[in-house]
Amino acid sequence: MRINFGELVIGDIAKEYLQRVIDKNWASEGDNVKEFEEEFAAHFGYKHAIATSSGTDANICSCAALYDFGAKRGDEIITPALCFVATPNSILAAGFIPKFVDIELENLNIDPHKIEAAITDRTKAIMVVHTMGKPCDMDSILKIAQKYDLMVIEDACEAHGATYKGKVVGTIGDMGTFSFYTAHQIVCGEGGIVATDDDEIADVVRSVKSHGRPPDSIYFDFQRVGFNSKMNDMEAALGLEGIELFEKNFDKRKNNLYKLLELTKELSDYCYFIKEEEHEKISPHAFPLVLKDEKYDRDRLYNYLESKGIQCKTLFGSLPTQHKAFKFLNYQSGQFPVAEYVGKNGLHFGMHQYINDDDLVYISDSLKGYFKYF
Ligand SMILES: Cc1ncc(COP(=O)(O)O)c(C=O)c1O
Repeated sequence: MRINFGELVIGDIAKEYLQRVIDKNWASEGDNVKEFEEEFAAHFGYKHAIATSSGTDANICSCAALYDFGAKRGDEIITPALCFVATPNSILAAGFIPKFVDIELENLNIDPHKIEAAITDRTKAIMVVHTMGKPCDMDSILKIAQKYDLMVIEDACEAHGATYKGKVVGTIGDMGTFSFYTAHQIVCGEGGIVATDDDEIADVVRSVKSHGRPPDSIYFDFQRVGFNSKMNDMEAALGLEGIELFEKNFDKRKNNLYKLLELTKELSDYCYFIKEEEHEKISPHAFPLVLKDEKYDRDRLYNYLESKGIQCKTLFGSLPTQHKAFKFLNYQSGQFPVAEYVGKNGLHFGMHQYINDDDLVYISDSLKGYFKYF
């Protein structure tokens, strides 16, 4: 018995698109990528979608695009203290400094009340993350961004198709990024997209993801610093299938999420669970939980679930204070109390479309089996 975090199944639609690659003997960014970009933009209602080789690259390109809009190397980008590490890593890779802000326990997203205190005259953007597919409080974030003239990047890598007050996440701010790694809803193996409704931003991101050339050029005219962040046609083949099956998979995952929340509701004395509010549609990325007391011992629960074949991940940890990688930024333990609590007491596991009802009962029985000793 093994319930993995995510799974990739390559179906007939993807195989047809893969056949195109074989017939053409061409795998670099080509027809499949173009179609994937168009279909993704049309499906979610974005004006532009620019494919990249990963969600991390989508993040790097979206940050690097800020140089065309007044940012200078070494400027700061505000970002949550707790999220997948690719977000602050990308900020650094693009030449900026991440300015970490604590999160809220109820939603695991950046705490808008703490953003203003982190703004300096070098702040150029707020890069939020819709962690676990739950949208951030975008009204408050946009209000602060407007007040201080900051751009807003939404890392929506875990939030394909999530909505906030009727708007699909990704272009509520200036740009949104997506990942198509196997854990996510649309899967390419590896892959990403930057979405934007702004023509000028779209041109800059297209340029940045191809060495800073003019958009869609392959010649040696380098107008800005850029990278090779292009997606390839084999990856896009898988993603095209993912778009066709999106609604079906989204509904299955959402049903799974709701069924497991129902099956585990008696554990609400022990755990905080994810909650969908009226103004939003959560994208069912995974099943997160945070222990209500340290005595329930997250590491023990983690090992227990793993021993039952349920693949677990922690809830990332407080990046500035619980991970060595960001030590050089000199944050102090205790500066991000919520992120640090969640980092010590949270975990998540998969809720994908290949998990069936028996698996859900098995997961809930396993969880109940653990807590019955308390
Ligand atoms: C919030 C977030 N941002 C960025 C990424 C990076 O995406 P990728 O793994 O495609 O580079 C991920 C990956 O899972 C993610 O969850």
